[in-house]
Amino acid sequence: MAAELLDAAPTVRSFLDPACGAGALLLALVAEWRARGRDGELELIGWDLDIRMLEQARAALEEEGGCRLHLRLERRDALARGARWPAGAAIAANPPWASYSGRQGIAAPRARSAGGWPSVHGDFAERIARHCALHAVPALVLLPAAWCELERYAPSRARVDSLPGLSCECELLGEHAFPGVIGSTALVHMRPSVRGSRPLEPDLLRALRAHLAALSAWPDECFGDVGVHTGNAADELVDRAPLRPDLREGRDLGAFRLGGPRLALRAGLERLDGRRFRTGTLAGARSWPVLLRQTANRPIAAVHDPAAWFRNSLLACRPPADVSPDCAVALLNGPVAAHFHQLAHADARQRVFPQLKIAHLRAQRFPFASRAAAPALHDELARRALALRGRAGAIDAEWESKRAALAELSTTAYHLPESLAHAVRRALVDRVAR
Ligand SMILES: C[S@@+](CC[C@H](N)C(=O)[O-])C[C@H]1O[C@@H](n2cnc3c(N)ncnc32)[C@H](O)[C@@H]1O
Repeated sequence: MAAELLDAAPTVRSFLDPACGAGALLLALVAEWRARGRDGELELIGWDLDIRMLEQARAALEEEGGCRLHLRLERRDALARGARWPAGAAIAANPPWASYSGRQGIAAPRARSAGGWPSVHGDFAERIARHCALHAVPALVLLPAAWCELERYAPSRARVDSLPGLSCECELLGEHAFPGVIGSTALVHMRPSVRGSRPLEPDLLRALRAHLAALSAWPDECFGDVGVHTGNAADELVDRAPLRPDLREGRDLGAFRLGGPRLALRAGLERLDGRRFRTGTLAGARSWPVLLRQTANRPIAAVHDPAAWFRNSLLACRPPADVSPDCAVALLNGPVAAHFHQLAHADARQRVFPQLKIAHLRAQRFPFASRAAAPALHDELARRALALRGRAGAIDAEWESKRAALAELSTTAYHLPESLAHAVRRALVDRVAR
């Protein structure tokens, strides 16, 4: 989590945990900052209502060395009306999970005007989102998965979604994601949205839909939800500190880039009393040459190499006929596929935390379904996508410019009229760059 936040905020030097407890997240940030050898001052701000927690956090953080640490730990109610949050600080938070109503509810500390299921974690999510939108900084927040998924939290999610200049993504981590956490957890990524992601004008939207309707989809069997479903047996199946990692999950994949596995699967467990899970076989997992993130508002794909086990937070693709995996990845990551996805699925466009589904991939339209239909274009797309392969985090300006050039080439593959191609570029180039 600390590594992801530093990646998302490469120029930020100030971080706030608004409910810091004993400081575990702040400690992780210091460790990651040091591990990267980042120079200059690091400002860590921790707030908590409980003075004993703050003392523990201070003791732990003051033991840390190796970087110039500026520590500001204060007893504060982060949700107090009028509380001033520090401008420009990125946020890491694991706020308390508690409802203001229901059987285990706690008393609401203040009158609430907002609709939906009232909860402390929902209030934190919304307050953090407002801070991020206002100061254009990212946040990573651990929340109960229910906040991302359940109808009763829809009003809270919608309030986050309605903030201009902010995009959110919910990564489901499953049960027992952290020691002592029993419920199903989500890691919520909040990012300032990038320039130029204005929607296309409605007539251009209609034109794009009409143009793509004339192209064909790939056969249904090209896409599968075949990853390891850990069900209620994640503890038994997943080794989180393995000697030989062999299990990937959604967060290991970025567009064109597949990181190495960080977890391991305790395979060979065919039955466990009272546990529901599905692993499949390693040969089966390896037979899918392309993987896609399941939590995303558009297809985000990478070639599955080196192949390993993967969890169902990754979907799988087997491109048709003689289409190479790299070429498939070039098309799936391209601006047209992204925009078609959002056009074709109103829920993908409007829901706060959209998920990519197999049905969405089966509905995608492609400029060709075999290399034979356009061999030169196919090979060029594949060659350029191959050059973008690499590990997560290894992005620099050169990589970005190659990615932009490939986005352009993949757009031309659809033979859009120039006005449409221009509109797609303008609307999506920044979003695809993420
Ligand atoms: C789950 S713990 C945080 C754990 C911490 N992030 C860590 O990594 O060690 C939640 C903390 O939030 C604090 N808290 C609850 N409501 C708060 C509020 N309104 N403002 C600030 N802190 C709050 C609690 O005292 C508790 O220590």
